[in-house]
Amino acid sequence: MAIELNGAGFTYPDGSRAVSGVSLRIADGERVAVVGQNGAGKTTTVKLMNGLLKPTGGEVRVDGVSTAERTTAQIARTVGYVFQNPDDQLFAADVRSEIEYLPRYLRWDDAKREERVDRAIELTGIGAHLEANPKDLPAAIRKFVAIAAVLVSECRYVILDEPTAGLDQRGLSLLTAMLDRLEAEGIAVVTITHDMRFVVDVFPRVVAMADGGVIADGPLPTVFCDDDVLSRSRIRRLEVAQIARDLGLGDAAVSVEDVVALIP
Ligand SMILES: Nc1ncnc2c1ncn2[C@@H]1O[C@H](COP(=O)(O)OP(=O)(O)OP(=O)(O)O)[C@@H](O)[C@H]1O
Ligand SMILES: [Mg+2]
Repeated sequence: MAIELNGAGFTYPDGSRAVSGVSLRIADGERVAVVGQNGAGKTTTVKLMNGLLKPTGGEVRVDGVSTAERTTAQIARTVGYVFQNPDDQLFAADVRSEIEYLPRYLRWDDAKREERVDRAIELTGIGAHLEANPKDLPAAIRKFVAIAAVLVSECRYVILDEPTAGLDQRGLSLLTAMLDRLEAEGIAVVTITHDMRFVVDVFPRVVAMADGGVIADGPLPTVFCDDDVLSRSRIRRLEVAQIARDLGLGDAAVSVEDVVALIP
């Protein structure tokens, strides 16, 4: 079971070619970070993964089936997508209705609905805000409401577009704990982020994009230590990696622990 992009491309109706020739495989339970500068094609690529966009070139398969043969609503049951901006996603007048929308739409019975809703609320820590209008909540909590509205589904792949934007340390800890729980349940997580600390802490695999294509895909230390990839995706070398290099410890360190282990 996997999401597979085979030479996938997408050109917007106005003629902007956002991505082309992208080949990627996201396996069950994997954690993958997608990085790259503004306009690199990250959001377009993940929208291809959940069928919000259908490729205009190549193909995208979810668990073996081409997204061209499924409706976006069908694909969304397997691949959940949390929007970059929660305001593009949230529409209900209160948090509880937002989270119950999908279970009601799918006509789940009460027991299943309650179980899934309670789990989503617990995973995202939004229990204190169920009666609030999402519009009245701080951006960070709105983000978790948007995540809960996706996690209530039975999706086995979750895509988070810039989840750490606007989160404080507490929000970040909550998010990291949530990702651990998802991993334990075998749910794959693909995250777009500009937050390199978050990548180092949480994602063993990194896909770097530039100019609508994938320029690197591999284990985090490999991608983050490649100067050419870093400069093409406009990522600053991690401070700790720079220190390791300055100390003559080579290019493989991405954490303080790595540096300590390398010191002779
Ligand atoms: N709705 C759209 N119509 C036309 N062009 C678009 C549209 N959305 C994105 N693009 C273009 O496609 C390219 C890739 O955009 P995309 O949003 O996928 O990049 P991104 O890597 O997610 O950027 P960011 O880091 O700013 O979110 C950009 O050149 C962008 O201008
Ligand atoms: Mg984007």
